[in-house]
Amino acid sequence: MAEFSLPKNSKIGKGKHFPAQGAKSPKQFKVYRWSPDDGANPRTDTFEVDLASCGPMVLDALIKIKNEIDPTLTFRRSCREGICGSCAMNIDGTNTLACTKAIDEVKGEVRVYPLPHMPVVKDLVPDLTHFYAQYASIRPWMRTESVPPPDRERLQSKEDRAKLDGLYECILCACCSTSCPSYWWNGDRYLGPAILLQAYRWIIDSRDEDTGERLDNLEDPFRLYRCHTIMNCTKTCPKGLNPAKAIAEIKKLMVQRRSL
Ligand code: SF4
Ligand code: SF4
Ligand code: FES
Repeated sequence: MAEFSLPKNSKIGKGKHFPAQGAKSPKQFKVYRWSPDDGANPRTDTFEVDLASCGPMVLDALIKIKNEIDPTLTFRRSCREGICGSCAMNIDGTNTLACTKAIDEVKGEVRVYPLPHMPVVKDLVPDLTHFYAQYASIRPWMRTESVPPPDRERLQSKEDRAKLDGLYECILCACCSTSCPSYWWNGDRYLGPAILLQAYRWIIDSRDEDTGERLDNLEDPFRLYRCHTIMNCTKTCPKGLNPAKAIAEIKKLMVQRRSL
């Protein structure tokens, strides 16, 4: 799996070492630290965690570090079961969810960094403001013109519903977009794989009536066409989704539309 480059504000210094006295099963976690409040350069701190008294996932170790060793360690998490997308970070060189990444999958020390190429708010928390603004720009809700049936919701066939499989499961964790070299270099204008997968989810929803406008919105040299099919996005998605395929499907629809 490709290793990704470091966060934007990095010139990483040597950090502190926190040994685990008397640990039965010690494991080292090397964790990126940066705070906007102290004027210091980023550093990596090394925490020894006793796996004999820790849950099995990397998130369990981070919570243990925060509770028992350094309460200032800052990271996002909520569901701790791979549903909310909050705990996305770079672990052992791969973007993934800390709550579903087993510690014993990592040989040796566990390196933990924020998602790459994003501004850092603090420690492992990336600033996703621009990512969410891009999501809002695709207007991710069902848009219709026809009058809805008076007595029931808008229905779709089983076949049309099945077209949403592999798309609706996206939790917007941003692991894919922050693994994409095109997004690293052109993220100001390129929407990136997560947002394009979401755009496709609405484009192919049989109940949506604004497909033309949705495609018009993507017909742009940067918003869609910066994808060069490098496939990092699909390799890294912790939900096993295929954003590169969704992007290819949008490009196919663009070609079909031009030939009409
Ligand atoms: S496609 Fe996968 S990696 Fe990308 S945002 Fe959705 S769940 Fe996360
Ligand atoms: S396939 Fe496209 S979106 Fe995915 S990593 Fe490559 S360039 Fe980025
Ligand atoms: S805490 Fe929700 S996905 Fe990890």
